[in-house]
Amino acid sequence: MWFERGFLAIFFLLLTVFAVSTFTTADDILESRGSTARILLQVKTACPVNFEFLNYTVITSQCKAPKYPATLCCKAFKEFACPYADLLNNVTNDCASTMFSYINLYGKYPPGLFASKCRSANGGLACPAPAPAPSPKSK
Ligand SMILES: *[C@@H]1O[C@H](CO)[C@@H](O)[C@H](O)[C@H]1NC(C)=O
Ligand SMILES: *[C@@H]1O[C@H](CO)[C@@H](O)[C@H](O)[C@H]1NC(C)=O
Repeated sequence: MWFERGFLAIFFLLLTVFAVSTFTTADDILESRGSTARILLQVKTACPVNFEFLNYTVITSQCKAPKYPATLCCKAFKEFACPYADLLNNVTNDCASTMFSYINLYGKYPPGLFASKCRSANGGLACPAPAPAPSPKSK
């Protein structure tokens, strides 16, 4: 009889240990998922330009449904985006994804429109070399 009780006790002890470790494992998984998400968020620095409040008229007035002519759309898109080319081509910030979100929001464009129509050879935003800053006139 004492043997059976001891056996049962050990059995329940093992069961408890098993249950606890199962929960802990589930917890660990959730925890590590959480921190992975946090790490992913940390990798991208917040865009220093607030794309929410820019004027998208230059794009929305020229690039229109249903055809979205590639030449007009890309010209307008570059007009808008090229001042920020350095930021947009920098994958360490979230400028490009933020900007595209707002372009699509304000212009109701299909996702990927500009990426598919205006892709440059290297996949980034191709802009003409920035105009040289006006130099002080020499006498
Ligand atoms: C946006 O720019 C256009 C010209 O491209 C201008 O006509 C319009 O007034 C501007 N809108 C705002 C809200 O600044
Ligand atoms: C990209 O942005 C980061 C953080 O703003 C900056 O430190 C880095 O120099 C930039 N890289 C390029 C290639 O501009």
